[in-house]
Amino acid sequence: MSELQDNNILLSVRDLKVAYRVGSKDVMAVDGASFDVPAGAIVGVVGESGCGKSTLVRALTRVLARSARIAGGEAFFEGTELFGLSEPDMNKLRWRDIAFIPQSAMNSLDPVYTVEAQLHEVLMQRGGMNRKEARQRSAELFEMVGIEPQRLRDYPHQFSGGMRQRVAIALALTLEPKLIIADEPVTALDVIVQRQILDQLKELQQRLGISVILVTHDISVVAYTCDKMVVMYAGRVTESGDTATVLTAPFHPYTMGLYNAFPDLAAAGGVLTPIQGAPPSLISPPPGCRFAERCPFCQAACRTVVPALIEVSEGHNTACHRVAEAADLRVKAAATETWEANA
Ligand SMILES: Nc1ncnc2c1ncn2[C@@H]1O[C@H](COP(=O)(O)OP(=O)(O)O)[C@@H](O)[C@H]1O
Ligand SMILES: [Mg+2]
Repeated sequence: MSELQDNNILLSVRDLKVAYRVGSKDVMAVDGASFDVPAGAIVGVVGESGCGKSTLVRALTRVLARSARIAGGEAFFEGTELFGLSEPDMNKLRWRDIAFIPQSAMNSLDPVYTVEAQLHEVLMQRGGMNRKEARQRSAELFEMVGIEPQRLRDYPHQFSGGMRQRVAIALALTLEPKLIIADEPVTALDVIVQRQILDQLKELQQRLGISVILVTHDISVVAYTCDKMVVMYAGRVTESGDTATVLTAPFHPYTMGLYNAFPDLAAAGGVLTPIQGAPPSLISPPPGCRFAERCPFCQAACRTVVPALIEVSEGHNTACHRVAEAADLRVKAAATETWEANA
């Protein structure tokens, strides 16, 4: 299987499907996602709430809800297929190779223990360190994420939201993983703190030469931080590629719409145009393109035929029936009226 792997690819996800059992039905929250995470890159996974982002990354670390199961696909991490690993083998990989910062991690630090105690637990139990080593490493980790080591003795409530997010990043770094998966790490924070955390994450990622999957509903976070991006809509990948390429010339109307809908993290100003409506229910998803209902450029075929993810230029993929007209659609998508007319 490793000969299938490009040497520069750390993680390769192929046709991943994840289902939740709801009553007597399977809800396919991730329905055939494929993408690569190169070594030393930050990859953004972006899409509105409910599009399957958390389910996707939880599947990769195999920390899914009990009602969920991996219903298909493969994920190769340095050539090792993750879904076929026994739980003990997968457990060896967690923290050590792949660290996961769950959504709202900064609010799930245990309030009754000092932050140091929580770092020590990971370092001693997972990393096999003794107390002295753990103490030293904790101080190092705090410095890495920009917090004075004196504050290790504090309790989580003594930290601001931004500081708690830094602690969550420190926890992820404890065993020097090759990949950090951060699910909505800046979502609850104000814009200035968002930028500080993202700068910190990027600085660490570059200094340590690691990879990051950054999950966000905010495309401006991707624009600010990520080398590559994967756009998800209703459980499917609708567009992926180098961030600069995708954002300069998006091929999928959903990407165009998201771009209009979020304020630029790096520069203020501009008119925001929301995409009307909401993602479809995954209990009985629409038969064709899942974005059809909300797409200002929807045609008859879009409602019946699933568009395949195709490569529009090297490493840039999109799943839209109207790829050939993308240049024209981009011009139209830039106008607020285009999205209002669809309301
Ligand atoms: N524990 C669960 N049981 C059933 N359905 C779930 C569960 N968790 C999430 N879902 C459904 O899966 C879909 C994707 O959710 P999620 O992965 O959390 O999306 P995102 O992170 O993009 O907001 C949603 O339709 C959501 O309702
Ligand atoms: Mg989520």
